[in-house]
Amino acid sequence: MSERLAIALLTAEVAPLSKTGGLADVTAALAKHLHAGGHDVRLFTPCYGSIDRAAVGAQPLAGLAGLTLAVGPHAYVFSVLRGALPGSAAPVYLIDCPALYERDAIYTTDPDEHLRFLAFTRAVFTACQRLAWGPQILHCHDWHAAFAPLFLKSSYGNEPLFAATRTLLTIHNIGYQGIFPAAHVADLDLGERLFMLHQEDLTAGRINALRHGILYADAITTVSPTHAREITSAEYGMGMQDTLRARDADLSGILNGVDYDEWDPRRDRYLLQHFDADHLQVKAALKRVFLKRMGFRIDGAVPLAGIVSRLAAQKGIELMFETLPKILQGRELAFIALGAGEPQYEKFFTGLAQRFPGRVAFHRGYDEELAHWIEATSDLYLMPSRYEPCGLNQMYSLRYGTIPVVRRTGGLADSVEHYNADTGTGTGVVFNDFDGPALEWALNLALDLYADPAHRARLRANGMARDFSWARQGALYEALYARLIAA
Ligand code: ADP
Ligand code: GLC
Repeated sequence: MSERLAIALLTAEVAPLSKTGGLADVTAALAKHLHAGGHDVRLFTPCYGSIDRAAVGAQPLAGLAGLTLAVGPHAYVFSVLRGALPGSAAPVYLIDCPALYERDAIYTTDPDEHLRFLAFTRAVFTACQRLAWGPQILHCHDWHAAFAPLFLKSSYGNEPLFAATRTLLTIHNIGYQGIFPAAHVADLDLGERLFMLHQEDLTAGRINALRHGILYADAITTVSPTHAREITSAEYGMGMQDTLRARDADLSGILNGVDYDEWDPRRDRYLLQHFDADHLQVKAALKRVFLKRMGFRIDGAVPLAGIVSRLAAQKGIELMFETLPKILQGRELAFIALGAGEPQYEKFFTGLAQRFPGRVAFHRGYDEELAHWIEATSDLYLMPSRYEPCGLNQMYSLRYGTIPVVRRTGGLADSVEHYNADTGTGTGVVFNDFDGPALEWALNLALDLYADPAHRARLRANGMARDFSWARQGALYEALYARLIAA
């Protein structure tokens, strides 16, 4: 084993406690991987009101109850609870502050949203101090924890406890940057060190959390090699491209892994029966059960395309607006969508289900079990994203023998290989342009390949044999941590 490292993971989401998307899956799986590898990894996350404290065995920590935390002119009372991630003994430290985290949702549009995560970040430092624990690595995820590197260099710069601490920022989604008005600058408690802030933003009247993470972290990663290149361009950088380019030497991409304890048809806890590449008749049987349960009125032989997604502009749902009705009209196809988000997309799927009764189903909301059934029983999985830092569902699909149809961007480009009908290599259908005709071409091709038993079998076998396990991907993080510590 490599050297045992002390690693703090700072994240706004961790599965199964709090999840809106892939961030939760990834931080949970990374913590599990590092813990199993013998590291002293401690995952810090806010204790939202929705978290089932008993499920993680959360216990108060001596000396960490009823503490007062000052964040600029604001004062909060918080405690730290310690538990373990379900399915692992990886320790979780919950920052319990009802005034900030007892809300209806994980993320809010409340005026104190920036304070919720500044307080979280500050509370992590306080917890480390009280525990007399100096992590060698502070691994910050997304904008919510992105001020930690700057705080380390400003407020805690002289503390022996943190003298050896190195910081890593992982950008899971550059579309969310944690921007708040410069009028709240006092909330950062930077005192004399205001010069450390990005001055142009400040002059323009705003403070951008993510940008400061990029400026001050010792290294920056995003969740696929292709996306690491993309975000230095104006097309994908969302305004961060210049700041990222200035850190080019410290920027890299590490593709997410898949937690096959959770997402594998050989042991999926939600399925009635299990299957692998040699028992695809079980997949077909599950599909028939599922079609009936969801009110489809079609034969099991009709291909089913599925999607499980946050319904946000990022996901390219608008490409389906014209394409899906056209294909549903012209060809044999059934379609199921699970998701919630922007009203225009919800409306589109609702309308589609009304227009094609018995062939299209839309379940609005968040449903873990349904997500697994869709992955397991669909024949095709659609992911026409505008941008996709990594994406998990296309990788889940591969393991379930569900053929992904994806746009060539970010992690989709790095995890799905376009099928070559001559050589029989490749795992899915990959299209380039972000427009309706490109998706239409891809869907038609996928349906043609699916209709051909030889191609269908080849595609499935290729996909099911792919391995995106954390054993591989986690080792890349460990190597990066080691490099940072040695530097
Ligand atoms: P993102 O993080 O951008 O949302 P990912 O593909 O990385 O995209 O991860 C999405 C994760 O969230 C997957 O585990 C997916 O199954 C899950 N998910 C998204 N929407 C829903 C939903 N409505 N119900 C259940 N799971 C969902
Ligand atoms: C994000 C991205 C997604 C990625 C996930 C986990 O929210 O949109 O592509 O897989 O984070 O890293």
